[in-house]
Amino acid sequence: MVIPAPEATTAGPEEIRIVRADARTKSDVARMRRALYEYLISLDDAPPPTWRCTVAKDLENQRCIVLIARLGDIPVGTLTANWDSTGWAMLRDGWVDTGFRRKGVARALINAVQRELAAAGARYVAAKYQVSNHSAAAAWTSLGFVANTEIARKEIG
Ligand SMILES: CC(C)(COP(=O)(O)OP(=O)(O)OC[C@H]1O[C@@H](n2cnc3c(N)ncnc32)[C@H](O)[C@@H]1OP(=O)(O)O)[C@@H](O)C(=O)NCCC(=O)NCCS
Repeated sequence: MVIPAPEATTAGPEEIRIVRADARTKSDVARMRRALYEYLISLDDAPPPTWRCTVAKDLENQRCIVLIARLGDIPVGTLTANWDSTGWAMLRDGWVDTGFRRKGVARALINAVQRELAAAGARYVAAKYQVSNHSAAAAWTSLGFVANTEIARKEIG
């Protein structure tokens, strides 16, 4: 299943534009993902790195959507989603640059990715976050996500 070509959308009072990442803009996504990973490993309950993927690989994947949020010409946020034939989609690598938070950028990214995923046939969307990541927990809850699982972690050496 191939999802429709990206369409620029606007949302929110500050004219946030959501566009698909491409070869030209993949370095913007890579820059924001690096900032995200640095932030995540600074948390007490840092996630294992196995789910990290290069932007180039994501752009080649037909079941992957990589979005960039722009305010004017400035790339200020990113979000990636993968989906499969079960109807489930997983969001990952969500980041909004620190100076641009609480302006609805994550909301616009999630609304846009939901529209694209629904068009591709997805019915459910999930996101993972660390327990200590309070801003992510608050944002996902506010955006309609309901927490229903816990992942246990044990240090073994
Ligand atoms: C989580 C994150 C993506 C939110 O981005 P954002 O653009 O600031 O979020 P929005 O402005 O769209 O916020 C939408 C709603 O989420 C809630 N919210 C977002 N950040 C919040 C915070 N720090 N504290 C409390 N509520 C918050 C609010 O209800 C907000 O609506 P409101 O501003 O009208 O009250 C951003 O804080 C971020 O990049 N954090 C670091 C990276 C990260 O944790 N990524 C997620 C990994 S799972």
